Amino acid sequence: MRYVLITGAGSGLGKETAKLLKDEKLLLVGRNEKNLKKVAQNLDADYFICDITNIDQINELKAHVEKNFANLDTIINCAGVWTKGEISQLSDKHFAEMNTLEKIKNVLDTNTFGTIAMITTFAPILIKNKKGQIINVNSQSGVETEEFCPVYNASKHGGYFYRKAVQRDLAKHNVKITDVCPGLMKTDFFVKADDGLPQEIMKLGLSPDEVAKTIKYVFDMPHEITIPSIEVRHIKNY
Ligand SMILES: NC(=O)c1ccc[n+]([C@@H]2O[C@H](COP(=O)([O-])OP(=O)(O)OC[C@H]3O[C@@H](n4cnc5c(N)ncnc54)[C@H](OP(=O)(O)O)[C@@H]3O)[C@@H](O)[C@H]2O)c1
Repeated sequence: MRYVLITGAGSGLGKETAKLLKDEKLLLVGRNEKNLKKVAQNLDADYFICDITNIDQINELKAHVEKNFANLDTIINCAGVWTKGEISQLSDKHFAEMNTLEKIKNVLDTNTFGTIAMITTFAPILIKNKKGQIINVNSQSGVETEEFCPVYNASKHGGYFYRKAVQRDLAKHNVKITDVCPGLMKTDFFVKADDGLPQEIMKLGLSPDEVAKTIKYVFDMPHEITIPSIEVRHIKNY
């Protein structure tokens, strides 16, 4: 049995990943208590409310893990938020609203700072336990530049290069780290950012349960095998 902390576990890909890992000891993390509680009850798992952009809440989560989840061996960073809009589109009300400085800061704080903060806070526990695995849910936007979403692009590239920068140090301490980089997925990710995409685009999205199987594949690898990054695409939507 492994001890797995999953952020963003109340919905979408994080929830599907939790379902596939139901036989492990799970600690589900997110902000929406109603969603988290429901997933946790169905899987007989624990949950903890934590906004990964908030340092005080991260420290509360750290205290909870040290007290109740000290055998932690796996961190799955799945929490993330979306925004889009080219700089030249900012005169358009929709794109202006998606690119207020507050929204930009929240995307960077969640996707980049939040991921780095979770690793900085919890990787020392894995190192102390002499074995561990970190899986970051990154994105196609973390490995390609896409002019329609420069801020999201920057936020995911930040995580991708952070992973590259820390992987050898972690490996020396028997901790491996992987970026899983999906293309478009059929979740509420865009709707939540007031950017619901047309049906003809969404139908070319990956099912989150299929992407969760990729996470499980990485999770199930023998410990001595590490996959630095893995990309997942719908065949009709490269
Ligand atoms: N959907 C796509 O097309 C797509 C493509 C490539 C990569 N991704 C990545 O896949 C991951 C999962 O996204 P999804 O598509 O499954 O969408 P989702 O259902 O909206 O999942 C995102 C999760 O992140 C959590 N979250 C957001 N901000 C948070 C914060 N500050 N603190 C803690 N938790 C926070 C949300 O939960 P709470 O609201 O409860 O906090 C939510 O459960 C994200 O990292 C996203 O960047 C998505």
